[in-house]
Amino acid sequence: MERTFIAIKPDGVQRGLVGDIIKRFETKGFTLVGLKLLNVSRELAEAHYGVHRERPFFGSLVDFITSSPVVAMVWEGDGVVASARNIIGATNPLTAAPGTIRGDYGVSIGRNLIHGSDAIETAQTEIALWFKPEELANWSPTIAPWLYE
Ligand code: RTP
Ligand code: MG
Repeated sequence: MERTFIAIKPDGVQRGLVGDIIKRFETKGFTLVGLKLLNVSRELAEAHYGVHRERPFFGSLVDFITSSPVVAMVWEGDGVVASARNIIGATNPLTAAPGTIRGDYGVSIGRNLIHGSDAIETAQTEIALWFKPEELANWSPTIAPWLYE
């Protein structure tokens, strides 16, 4: 079953949106298989956003992600990688559609509340970066027949 890596960034935690954000993925029908709150090291932040190393916003992005705790999660379900990106919305909250997390809760690209893996391969890399295998729970919700045909 497909898995994606989702992180509620420091602004989402500080603003008390953890419950609201988790609820969106739960009620959609995805399965939570990993969850932890952590202070992110510079090493982890730089590895996670390594693809943006040459971009002008890289330093402030790493400063921000390491500034306050993050909620790291792994969610599972058919098509979860692309669907989670739709639930999250466009990178800039000002242009993100209403009904998305960024569209409903944010006003600034540098405070866009949440990260979601952008492809299946990226998700596998990010899950391995943030979680040890034993931190992930392999389980099937008993409601699965009511979610999947
Ligand atoms: P994320 O990786 O955090 O889920 O966001 P994303 O895929 O929607 O956007 P990405 O292009 O990967 O950018 C990573 C994060 O860098 C910040 N950013 N700032 N100032 C800027 O022009 C700018 N562009 C990107 C955002 O916080 C974005 O989420
Ligand atoms: Mg990205």
